[in-house]
Amino acid sequence: MTTQIERSLVLVKPDGFARGLSGEVLRRIEAKGYTLAALAVTTPTREQLAEHYAEHEGKPFYEPLVDFMSSGQVTAVVIEGHRCIEGFRALAGATDPTAALPGTIRGDLGRDWGKKVQENIVHGSDSPESAAREIAIWFPNL
Ligand code: RTP
Ligand code: MG
Repeated sequence: MTTQIERSLVLVKPDGFARGLSGEVLRRIEAKGYTLAALAVTTPTREQLAEHYAEHEGKPFYEPLVDFMSSGQVTAVVIEGHRCIEGFRALAGATDPTAALPGTIRGDLGRDWGKKVQENIVHGSDSPESAAREIAIWFPNL
């Protein structure tokens, strides 16, 4: 029997990139034991983000989210490892960086800046279906 190695799409968002936290995020991923399958620095287009965040279209934070995510460079990463989707979400912590527990990326490194959308350093896929969909958007050749 062959087992499929799980993959997840991680983004160091423009706030994290601008603060020089890409290395710290990668360090935590590798320290946890996951491996890197692909890595790129890119400035997302609004079209790319509309696809990536299609599930949030129409929500009050959608336009501010696309504005924020297209405001600068991001580090896009595909990580690999058994249960890495769930595992990275645990490393990232809660969406709201004020509530995110210390020890998590968002809890240790993020805060609320009082903006229309939470700037919370990282994105991580939330299911195998989302991961496959998102990896195809950010790494079409993978
Ligand atoms: P992500 O997709 O970035 O990994 O984060 P998540 O699953 O924890 O959060 P999700 O509900 O998918 O929302 C996507 C991103 O939108 C921003 N957001 N701001 N009320 C707010 O201000 C608000 N709600 C969502 C965050 O940047 C969140 O990560
Ligand atoms: Mg999400």
